[in-house]
Amino acid sequence: MTNSTLINNLFNDLSTRYDFLNDLFSFGLHRFWKRKLLNYLQPICGEVWVDLCCGTGDLTFPLAKLVKPHGKVIGIDAACQPLDLAEKRLIKETELSIEWINRDVLDEDLMVEYFDGAVMAYGLRNLSDPLKGLKAIRRFLKPGGRAGVLDFNKTSNNSISGLFQKLYLNFLVVPIASRFGFKHHFKYLVDSIQNFPDGISLENLAIKAGFLEAKYYKIAGNQMGILLLKN
Ligand SMILES: C[S@@+](CC[C@H](N)C(=O)[O-])C[C@H]1O[C@@H](n2cnc3c(N)ncnc32)[C@H](O)[C@@H]1O
Repeated sequence: MTNSTLINNLFNDLSTRYDFLNDLFSFGLHRFWKRKLLNYLQPICGEVWVDLCCGTGDLTFPLAKLVKPHGKVIGIDAACQPLDLAEKRLIKETELSIEWINRDVLDEDLMVEYFDGAVMAYGLRNLSDPLKGLKAIRRFLKPGGRAGVLDFNKTSNNSISGLFQKLYLNFLVVPIASRFGFKHHFKYLVDSIQNFPDGISLENLAIKAGFLEAKYYKIAGNQMGILLLKN
């Protein structure tokens, strides 16, 4: 089984419990961090945006509210079950213009230079290679477009925030997830954070990917990070 098939299976498995566990483990704060990402990017009415690795659409909906009534958002995810849930949520949001696409965001033929802006929340860490992921984000953007990536901040092992992250993940998240039958899924989360580049490395990778500007902000007591990009 390829790595991307494994990741797809993992998120398909998790889909019905994903939003609940996200709320539980972040104490609902992930919504605040997503709102912060949008505040940095300032999407405006009439723009066309893409939410990459959109999952159940948690960020897609608030984004679509900012660009309505003339703008539009496309949510792309490789796993079909989170997208099914997103589609169901959309039925109640009749005034929003959102389209879902079930594809791998790394596919090079997808909507090149099409969007005013792009967001990716908790997606980059799951891609096979962060540089490829950043190149993919850039490919979606029109010249002058902007993008923001929200994810865990890779803390340094000997810092207080690093110690907190380790304790929180290993002694709270993984044991609770195990009770719901998702031990391996959340063990994967811990490993993926370990293997993820830190903020400065992400800035450097983004410039290597061709972005004109890249700035990383640590938030949530250094536990999360937002990478802002300009094409
Ligand atoms: C941790 S979830 C984040 C979902 C959503 N952005 C949020 O913040 O709630 C990561 C999502 O990335 C998707 N994903 C992982 N690799 C992908 C790829 N190569 N192409 C598209 N989606 C991918 C998964 O299917 C999953 O839904």
